[in-house]
Amino acid sequence: MVKTADRWNDYRLLDAGDGEKLEQWDNIVLRRPDPQAIWPRDKSFALWNRADAVYHRSSSGGGKWEYKKKLPESWTIRYDSLTFKVSPTGFKHTGIFPEQAVNWDWMGDLIRTHKDEELRILNLFAYTGGATMACSAAGAAEVVHVDAAKGMVKWAQENRDLSGLQDRRIRFIVDDVQKFVEREKRRGRTYHGILMDPPSYGRGPDGEMWKFETEIIKLINACLDILDEHALFFLINSYTTGFSSIVLEDIMKTMILTEHPDGRIDTGEVALPIEHRNLLLPCGIYGRWQRND
Ligand SMILES: C[S@@+](CC[C@H](N)C(=O)[O-])C[C@H]1O[C@@H](n2cnc3c(N)ncnc32)[C@H](O)[C@@H]1O
Repeated sequence: MVKTADRWNDYRLLDAGDGEKLEQWDNIVLRRPDPQAIWPRDKSFALWNRADAVYHRSSSGGGKWEYKKKLPESWTIRYDSLTFKVSPTGFKHTGIFPEQAVNWDWMGDLIRTHKDEELRILNLFAYTGGATMACSAAGAAEVVHVDAAKGMVKWAQENRDLSGLQDRRIRFIVDDVQKFVEREKRRGRTYHGILMDPPSYGRGPDGEMWKFETEIIKLINACLDILDEHALFFLINSYTTGFSSIVLEDIMKTMILTEHPDGRIDTGEVALPIEHRNLLLPCGIYGRWQRND
């Protein structure tokens, strides 16, 4: 299945092609690289030349934003009841992966329909907290947000405040995901929902090396140890290119469904609709397990 994030009002993917995407974040238009968008862009589409900022890759790795006009350092966009800070970072990110809204909607719906349960949710590689806020706003009793980068956790706290969720129980933790999950096991803590959006490569706070293909199975095994026997969901998202969603299907079948046969799985691709043409931009893959009611 392809899940398309098509419920945004404040975010629009205007066009994509020639290795770039053109996006509107509230009223600001950004143009930045996208390795999947290898088809030709529509050169006659005038907005390509009217972007407010363009990210240029440098040949030595990394890159930088070229500002066509003075932009605020940050601004906000809304998704339903949530408000997020957007800011063009040195690493071409903006602080939001808008395609993740499909996962926020799925988890949010599940949490809302099981509001009578005291649900503890664990968000790994939690970044600026899109999923954390979606789960909390939907009514999770507690959300634990884990990311290695202090700056990202601070940004997530700003998103909590912008979204008016200061009174909700959200724990923000700067830690390596594997170490944190193993520590939770020793403490005997369990979670009713676990979600992870691991990068292809990453580093823990003490420089711990994370590489999807060598670490993912160990991490899932550790997560299964702390997945509550009455768990509601387990979600893995990945944008590691080269992995088919069938890989996640096989992981779900061999690791999660065998331990939690009282549920069902769904896997597929995540995409954003390209507004100017009838196209989709692929943004990664998802694998979901949910308890049967
Ligand atoms: C690009 S983000 C994931 C996107 C996020 N789930 C979202 O949709 O908002 C990857 C995050 O993983 C974090 N990270 C990488 N390696 C890590 C590790 N070993 N332990 C904890 N966090 C890690 C990074 O700091 C980064 O914030």
